[in-house]
Amino acid sequence: MFSYRHGFHAGNHADVLKHIVLTHILQYFNQKDAPYYFVDLHAGAGLYDLEGQWAQKIGEYIDGIARVWEAKSPPPAVMQYLDLIRELNPDGLLRIYPGSPWLALEACRSQDKLRLFEMHPNEADILRQNLDQRAHRVPRQTAVFGDDGFAGLKGHIPPPTRRAIVLIDPSYEDKNDYRRVVETMKDAMVRFPTGCYAIWYPQIQRREAQELPRQLEKLAGQNWIHASLTVHKPGSDGLGLHGSGIFVINPPWTLTAAMKETLPWLVRTLGTDERASYKLDFMSV
Ligand SMILES: C[S@@+](CC[C@H](N)C(=O)[O-])C[C@H]1O[C@@H](n2cnc3c(N)ncnc32)[C@H](O)[C@@H]1O
Repeated sequence: MFSYRHGFHAGNHADVLKHIVLTHILQYFNQKDAPYYFVDLHAGAGLYDLEGQWAQKIGEYIDGIARVWEAKSPPPAVMQYLDLIRELNPDGLLRIYPGSPWLALEACRSQDKLRLFEMHPNEADILRQNLDQRAHRVPRQTAVFGDDGFAGLKGHIPPPTRRAIVLIDPSYEDKNDYRRVVETMKDAMVRFPTGCYAIWYPQIQRREAQELPRQLEKLAGQNWIHASLTVHKPGSDGLGLHGSGIFVINPPWTLTAAMKETLPWLVRTLGTDERASYKLDFMSV
């Protein structure tokens, strides 16, 4: 079993980018009454205590959500994301950070369904406990699977309602994850070509990470958006996460405009040196 635990990284710059995009997609899906499925192939534990020993150990959230939380006049896409985090921190002090399943649970309506995969047994247990203790509506609309999300997706698409958001967010601790993302997406584009797929990837000094967006572009068809945020120059030791990207296939048409406004703001808010920058590429029919 891998050693990755998201609690060490919760609320970092990569979570901020990914979760702003996810929140925008969820809110867009909410505009139509028809129910949708949120399928999270790599769910994590759901909730993270930023004052707990894991988050404190590396303190990645300090240059991530903590800066966004304090920032003045965030753009609307950031406000929507902060509104969901405020539900967990009603006194205004940032303590609990929501992972992707929780953002989805907060955003979705009673008719929507959550299908959450988490293969690490401890993380899956914590996710179930969090859902049992803190969430309303859970039994009816949420299912947690302790299985491999890549393999599990095919059992959930196309969903009965033919509306779904799929989040693919592995830790990439295993370099096979890059290949599995591409294989999973190739299969998904045959089974359910109209689904909305959000694929996160790290900016690290590894060939597979650099090639992934081009591979996704090839299989994405003609409706996609690729947003990336670099917060500082790559480390001289070749280690560490200097940024990340998210590739969305069949995004809401509103996402490009939202990211044009949000990404420069994120560079100003989260950038830590002169190499902080963003990129936004897209294709739409
Ligand atoms: C980056 S974290 C997920 C964070 C979460 N999506 C969020 O945004 O809050 C990746 C998670 O995927 C789990 N994982 C890794 N490989 C997996 C697989 N093949 N299937 C399901 N879960 C997996 C890890 O245990 C880890 O908790």
